[in-house]
Amino acid sequence: MSSASASRNVIRRLINAAQHTACPCHGCRTGGAHNPIHALQQMRKYATPVESLPVEKEYAFEVAAANLRFGEGVTREVGMDFKNMNARKVAVFTDPNVAKLPPAKMAIASLEAQQDLPFVVYDRVVAEPTEASWRDAIAWARDQDCSHFLAVGGGSVMDTAKAANLFTVYKDADLFDFINAPVGKGLPIKEKLRPLIAVPTTAGTGSETTGTAILDITSMAFKTGIANRAMKPVLGIVDTLNTRTCSRELHISAGLDVLFHSLESYTAIPYTERTPRPANPILRPAYQGSNPVADIFSMWALRTTVKHLPRISKNPGDHESLSQMMLAASFAGIGFGNAGVHLCHGISYPISGLNKKGPQFKYPGYNVDHPIIPHGVT
Ligand SMILES: [Fe+2]
Repeated sequence: MSSASASRNVIRRLINAAQHTACPCHGCRTGGAHNPIHALQQMRKYATPVESLPVEKEYAFEVAAANLRFGEGVTREVGMDFKNMNARKVAVFTDPNVAKLPPAKMAIASLEAQQDLPFVVYDRVVAEPTEASWRDAIAWARDQDCSHFLAVGGGSVMDTAKAANLFTVYKDADLFDFINAPVGKGLPIKEKLRPLIAVPTTAGTGSETTGTAILDITSMAFKTGIANRAMKPVLGIVDTLNTRTCSRELHISAGLDVLFHSLESYTAIPYTERTPRPANPILRPAYQGSNPVADIFSMWALRTTVKHLPRISKNPGDHESLSQMMLAASFAGIGFGNAGVHLCHGISYPISGLNKKGPQFKYPGYNVDHPIIPHGVT
């Protein structure tokens, strides 16, 4: 059989499957009555012919996610990963709490088990990082000039490691050069960053899959960050053992973040509605609007969170639910990392930012010495 006829057969099979399998309309997805018009609208949502679009509207979407490895105890493999990548020197990022816990200890032991694998540890990452904490981490990383990066911790640790990596490569750049416009200049990242492996210790941000890094701009009482595919880790190691030491409050606030990542990315305005269309593909944003691939990940994460987060709230020792929430966090990360979030996240940032200037509320269950309303709660 020639490759041309093989391709035609594949296309025929796909068309046939599309006509005779589940309807994509929301009514059917939620168990409601089939609505052919709604189904058609849903299909057209992403299928508008290019030639019928106004010139300035987007016509393409792009999917990017870190490679992921899921498994119980899989943190112990990270030393071999760096060895396999011929790492010259590894910068390990963590925070003072996680540094004392099994996930960081297992990662360090895994690095130590390798011959000739130098590494240095930065354990001063602060929860809900700020300009000042990023500047400290960046100065350290520039000085160390490591060939590879490892983050072991929650979103704050992973985001700080991404920033440290970016500004190690751009060693003369200013912090605000890459921060999202209009707060920063939002410059494109054209250089190749150094390989980063992320090992999450919360089931929340999904930062192990995304190119997003968030910080508090304390001078403006505002939160924003850098969202760029170039910053995504080369590998997310999702170890289902790594959230077992979290407090109940941390499980819940991190889990609420997963809930809203999935809800907001699924309900984001479709990518076809975004204007203007970028003149160059490097300018196409990671937060590009809802699209068929992100939808699949977001919906799976939403269903899983609705089922398992209440179980963890009742019993933080429910290991099956803890494992499922680790998966859901990464799935929601792939969803929102390729679609974006919207109003709920936008509203949350000034709440957490203003708290540090105003009410100085300190949420229970967080072992920190500064005011904090965790991201998932805001
Ligand atoms: Fe979030």
